[in-house]
Amino acid sequence: MKTAAPEIRVLPDGEALRRAAADEILRIALDVVTKRKIFTFALSGGRTPKPLYQLLGGEGDASYRAKMPWPQVHLFWSDERPVPADHPDSNYGMVRGAMLEKLSLTRKQVHRIRTEGLNPAQAAHEHQRELKDFFTQNLMLRYDVPRFDLILLGMGPDGHVAGLFPNSEALRERRLLVTAPKPTPSGQQRITLTMPVINMASNVIVLVSGADKAEAVKTALEGAPEADRCPAQAVKPSDGRLIWIVDKAAASLLTKAS
Ligand code: 6PG
Repeated sequence: MKTAAPEIRVLPDGEALRRAAADEILRIALDVVTKRKIFTFALSGGRTPKPLYQLLGGEGDASYRAKMPWPQVHLFWSDERPVPADHPDSNYGMVRGAMLEKLSLTRKQVHRIRTEGLNPAQAAHEHQRELKDFFTQNLMLRYDVPRFDLILLGMGPDGHVAGLFPNSEALRERRLLVTAPKPTPSGQQRITLTMPVINMASNVIVLVSGADKAEAVKTALEGAPEADRCPAQAVKPSDGRLIWIVDKAAASLLTKAS
């Protein structure tokens, strides 16, 4: 299937980056809720999106918080570490501190990847069940894969996205929606959405900042195809938009972007 070319937005600094992302998220959310009552949004972990979540939560500028259709928003995560919610490495914990504590979402709107008392494989299994139940009851499960309205991703300097690291067998997963790949040689372990779920989304935003990501951005967007080495290359929504929002430093090696 022919996929659409990525839209690439290059912003001068961190403030412009988070506002560009918040503007895009708001536009997508408002468009979706004119058609139906639920907006499904999977969040990424990592350092880059934290200021964005703070902005959506109202910090520094109340307008995004005021305009987001929060009662219709259902939040999910692209990946999680096998740690409890109050651990500093928890992606859910990060979002809770940056944004959720300032909003009044109900428990039913927040679909975190639960890890407490479960090993990573069990956590992946449980979360997959939650995804299937939620999408079957409320939305659509096309070819058994949930179609998120929006998935926000970050990218590591090694080209990993969500919890899908270079050369991981999980990059070839086609059956599972959520998986817990073997830890990487450096000991990174995640419970993660799989590529079929990412590529079924209606919109995927990849948010990247910093000079240490410039090589990976170049490889992801302009490099020779080698998705095993650079998993970000495999992010190609089959029937959706792909929007890269990057700061100047991360985009510095691109030749095609403005
Ligand atoms: C995570 C995600 C990961 C993240 C990138 C970028 O950290 O939970 O697994 O995919 O989005 O590593 O992280 P930074 O934004 O911290 O660079």
